[in-house]
Amino acid sequence: MEMRATAVACSNIALTKYWGKADFRDNVPLNDSVSMCLSEAITTTTVVWDDTLSQDEIHLDGERILDQRGVRISRYLDRIRADYYRMPARVVSMNSFPAGTGIASSASGFAALAAAAFAAMDEEMPDDEALSRWARRGSGSACRSIHGGFVEWVAGTGDEDSVARPLAGPDHWDLRDLVVLVSRAPKAISSSDGHRIASTHPFMPARQAQLPARGLAVKGAIANRDFSTLGALIEQEALEMHALMISGVPAALYFQPGTIALLHAIREWREADGVPVAFTLDAGPNVHVLCEGEHAPEVLRRIEALAPGVTVLENRPGPPVRRTDHHLI
Ligand code: DP6
Repeated sequence: MEMRATAVACSNIALTKYWGKADFRDNVPLNDSVSMCLSEAITTTTVVWDDTLSQDEIHLDGERILDQRGVRISRYLDRIRADYYRMPARVVSMNSFPAGTGIASSASGFAALAAAAFAAMDEEMPDDEALSRWARRGSGSACRSIHGGFVEWVAGTGDEDSVARPLAGPDHWDLRDLVVLVSRAPKAISSSDGHRIASTHPFMPARQAQLPARGLAVKGAIANRDFSTLGALIEQEALEMHALMISGVPAALYFQPGTIALLHAIREWREADGVPVAFTLDAGPNVHVLCEGEHAPEVLRRIEALAPGVTVLENRPGPPVRRTDHHLI
């Protein structure tokens, strides 16, 4: 028996961050978060449940994976197998963005894997809420990639009610995220370790106390397409997360010189030249430069002038996870 399906998912950028977990097994976060799906940061994954295999076979970007990444995927498939078929799988996955660029591939990766794994079964497809739950069990931020456009992940109280919900579709607002690849060096501290360090950080209670108000304000700014309010909030949020990272034990200093140069430049473009632009950051050195579509050519020109030849990935609000018949195997 062979059962096959393919799914495509976008990555997402958090506007308010998931950083710190209440439950490490199921990736239940300490707080709600809000994100935008990234149209050009895409993972396509084909899953074949195949009882002729003796073990899982996992291929990422054209390479057979036998290291820790493969173990993580097999453990994840074990959880699905515990509830459904007890069959090995062949998983073939391709990213649209180059590997090792620091763009979160676990969000698009586990959203596409969850959708393809269930679609390949001879079972009724889980609804979006259930699929979001399954994606989150693979990687927390993946639960937000089940939906398109602007998404909220409601932390909930545990595995059952910690799910992402759509806030507004991809056409709601022509917001752009220009991802500037400042450095391709591997991270010194993985985001899994980062979540652990953050969860017991002495500043965390102060962060948690102010997050509900910031989350509400971010959702309001998205609803009203209010860029200047959103920009101020997301910069504060990103810097607060990095303040926790920098002051953690061990400390995670993700900024590179190019990161700092771009953050200063963005402030100057906005405050001195009146260009409506703002930044956010993930757990890494790359800068996500946000602006509305009409200002994107000007912002791109300025990025290129500041860092000639730098790679920039221009994203619009991306679509929800979807199935395709273009199988990778
Ligand atoms: C900084 O979702 O990668 O991007 O659940 O351990 O897989 P795991 O973590 P992950 O963490 C993402 C952290 C972040 C912020 C965010 O996306 O909200």
